[in-house]
Amino acid sequence: MHRIALPSYAVSVAPGALDGLGELVRDAAPAHRYALITDETVARHHAPRAVAALGGRRVDTLVIPPGEAHKTRETWASLTDRMIGAGFGRDAAIIAMGGGVVGDLAGFVAATFMRGIPVVQVPTTLLAMIDASIGGKTGVDTPAGKNLVGAFHQPAAVVVDPELLATLPPNHLRAGLAEAIKHGIIADESHFDEIARAIPRLLGGAPDAAMLTPLIAHSIDIKASVVRRDERESGVRAVLNFGHTLGHAIEMLSGYRLLHGEAVSIGMTLESAAGERAGIAEPGTSGRVRDLLVRAGLPVDRPRAIPADDILSAAHGDKKARAGATRYALPRRVGAMAGEREGWSIPLEDSLVREVLS
Ligand SMILES: NC(=O)c1ccc[n+]([C@@H]2O[C@H](COP(=O)([O-])OP(=O)(O)OC[C@H]3O[C@@H](n4cnc5c(N)ncnc54)[C@H](O)[C@@H]3O)[C@@H](O)[C@H]2O)c1
Ligand SMILES: [Zn+2]
Repeated sequence: MHRIALPSYAVSVAPGALDGLGELVRDAAPAHRYALITDETVARHHAPRAVAALGGRRVDTLVIPPGEAHKTRETWASLTDRMIGAGFGRDAAIIAMGGGVVGDLAGFVAATFMRGIPVVQVPTTLLAMIDASIGGKTGVDTPAGKNLVGAFHQPAAVVVDPELLATLPPNHLRAGLAEAIKHGIIADESHFDEIARAIPRLLGGAPDAAMLTPLIAHSIDIKASVVRRDERESGVRAVLNFGHTLGHAIEMLSGYRLLHGEAVSIGMTLESAAGERAGIAEPGTSGRVRDLLVRAGLPVDRPRAIPADDILSAAHGDKKARAGATRYALPRRVGAMAGEREGWSIPLEDSLVREVLS
């Protein structure tokens, strides 16, 4: 069992960890009653095991339809109303079992229900295991954009069971790998190399939980150490945005046909190439980034249907950009970020970025 400690909670990573959920909630989130919030797909595959693991505790399973389209205020309201209608009170706790959509949404229900009740995160996608479930960001989308309404609400515990990935579609596994590769680039070259070595076996068939476990634990450790240094995103957390300034723009302009991790893969390739061209990244950095993403079966080129100028203007509108310049979180090399003195984000001229996009 790998155990990664954050200031107010711990992340447990082990094959079969889900079966220890009952013991875990007893210690980390004791409650008279639990709401297990999940989506239809995850419920079908994994809810019976979760309920069995809760061993006779009072549990209501609340199921929502799968997909980003349901990460809305409407779903938040319906879940909240169902809990009120079923008589849940302040002495309840939520178990959020699913991908990042369920985690963000159920986390936001927990943040607001009776002014806040505990939530235990049980991520079931690779992206949610190494990224979305760590750090306490919760929220929903609005028609104007993603994640525009939300709250920081740290989980009481995070339970990561890599066995749950056996049912995850391969494109979602690859999308999660993009964020793991990002963790290697921003903080730890050995993680980058570890992923490179694992890829042939990882993508060669059903994911092997024993092999994935140390890799997932390492990736969580990297995100946790960034978050620990910066629980409310004032500074160093900006490094996690590597690949996301252009990536978000491309994800949005694809009409969300690209998965988040796929768009981030393209974003990391383009941003590292721009950083290298600007003399910020060591020569060869963007080539290494691109090579590994290609080997992971991820896209690395701008979709031809999306014009370079549209990407640039959408990147300007990124809520993380500052007025007058588009700022990017950029690697100095694989394993280290540049720009500590600039707050970990560096302005790049549009003309330079346009050359890379063309
Ligand atoms: N809070 C944060 O810090 C943070 C960080 C990154 C991303 N996010 C959010 O995460 C969301 C994306 O998360 P995601 O990629 O996990 O998407 P997701 O939750 O939509 O899950 C992807 C799909 O896989 C299915 N699925 C999940 N687990 C499965 C399993 N074990 N077996 C079979 N199918 C399974 C789901 O039903 C869904 O259809 C976005 O809304 C994003 O904003 C949040
Ligand atoms: Zn991301």
